[in-house]
Amino acid sequence: MIELTDVHKSFGSKHVLRGVDLSIPKGTSMVIIGGSGTGKSVTLKCVLGLVRPDSGQITVDGNDVNTGDRDAFLARFGMLFQGGALFDSLPVWQNVAFRLLRGALKRPKAEAREIAIEKLRRVGLTPETADLFPAELSGGMQKRVGLARAIAAEPEIIFFDEPTTGLDPIMAGVINELIREIVTEMGATAMTITHDMSSVRAIADNVAMLHDGVIKWTGPVSRLDDSGDPYLDQFIHGRAEGPIEAVR
Ligand SMILES: Nc1ncnc2c1ncn2[C@@H]1O[C@H](COP(=O)(O)OP(=O)(O)OP(=O)(O)O)[C@@H](O)[C@H]1O
Ligand SMILES: [Mg+2]
Repeated sequence: MIELTDVHKSFGSKHVLRGVDLSIPKGTSMVIIGGSGTGKSVTLKCVLGLVRPDSGQITVDGNDVNTGDRDAFLARFGMLFQGGALFDSLPVWQNVAFRLLRGALKRPKAEAREIAIEKLRRVGLTPETADLFPAELSGGMQKRVGLARAIAAEPEIIFFDEPTTGLDPIMAGVINELIREIVTEMGATAMTITHDMSSVRAIADNVAMLHDGVIKWTGPVSRLDDSGDPYLDQFIHGRAEGPIEAVR
């Protein structure tokens, strides 16, 4: 479904992606792990066409992401941004139903609101939350509103950038289960970035570790503990000592 081939991206003199190869089969859940600043979010943005790679190829369903009808392309995606990226001036329900209120996916307002409330419920938020503004929510609640927005239009492909960061352990468990459900029940293809190892084990079919601009290791989640890869081992056990230098 998603295929990255030798993707490179620099910002100024900083060569962030140095030949990323990654393949995500349809209906599977890929989790990307890796140190802070290694280019995980940049990789997601490249697939969405929000950041343009310097070289390499990215295809979704066989089509190059940087050609063709952008609106039709983006209509297939849901995305939870790392920083939430909610619209401050819109109440929660209009944030969640954002795409259902305009463009190709437009629905009547009452229906869009109903869907928003249902999605809020799925992420553990009450209907009363619907009429609040983002500034009136806690950080974890904002995260969940972002998640509700990502799933609102029932996308085929869904990207989650740090879905459980800032959530309490129980809510993180709820969100992990929800992501797993979206993949198994809706048949969606998912790509998730996380630092939360319990999240990796709960939601991944496959795992890829980004380090030094390349996918250092990739394989099924069942191989995580016996990969024999010293970089992966250091990362998943959070050891200060090892091949990965703590100061970058
Ligand atoms: N638009 C941009 N302009 C300039 N530099 C950028 C831009 N976006 C990302 N970078 C740089 O690219 C590198 C990778 O950033 P990215 O956000 O992908 O990291 P990350 O792996 O998601 O890290 P974290 O785990 O902390 O979220 C960083 O050094 C960052 O400063
Ligand atoms: Mg990031």
